[in-house]
Amino acid sequence: MIQIAVFASGRGTNLQAIIDAMKTGNIDGEIKIVISDNPEAYALERAKNNQIATKVFHYKQYKSKREYELDIIQFLKELKIDLIVLAGYMRILSPTFIREYPYRIMNIHPALLPSFPGLNAQRQALEYGVKISGCTVHFVDEGTDTGPIILQEAVKVDQSDNEETLSNRILQFEHQILPRAIQLFASGKIEVYKNKVYFKE
Ligand code: GRF
Repeated sequence: MIQIAVFASGRGTNLQAIIDAMKTGNIDGEIKIVISDNPEAYALERAKNNQIATKVFHYKQYKSKREYELDIIQFLKELKIDLIVLAGYMRILSPTFIREYPYRIMNIHPALLPSFPGLNAQRQALEYGVKISGCTVHFVDEGTDTGPIILQEAVKVDQSDNEETLSNRILQFEHQILPRAIQLFASGKIEVYKNKVYFKE
């Protein structure tokens, strides 16, 4: 069973989807820790409600981003974490951090990458006027939302959509593909070759 650290800064509905998938036996892994930069994150409550350990790393208590990240890395190493899942984590990880966990950090993004990377992806999609958007689970590399794509799901954009309605519709699919991607990793089915993900039979 793989040991997972989930990083979340906010309400944690994706965390909840992972917890639920574990309860129904759909992920062969354990969430060892939920890490947040935000002590008010509702994700922390969700973890506690499910007897999962939590830890807050207060960014402002560190002299630099480097020290902040080194502290987190040391903590993760002690826990022997196999996979890090960014589920609404609002900080960019530095190359130093990412190099510690090559192809072992996953992120969920609310658009069909490589379209609309970065913040407010659903708003970007609406402003552009695309007719289809969706969500993407990808490995994190040193760019912003540029790493190898693991799973995607398409979602139709209605002309009556606003940011909230589109975000909510996409979110339902995020909750499906994130646990599936984690299980693909947990069962050793993912291979990365030349920046592309392949699934072993
Ligand atoms: C999701 O839309 C995710 O795609 C983005 O941040 C949001 C987090 O939502 N990265 P939640 O905290 O999991 O509810």
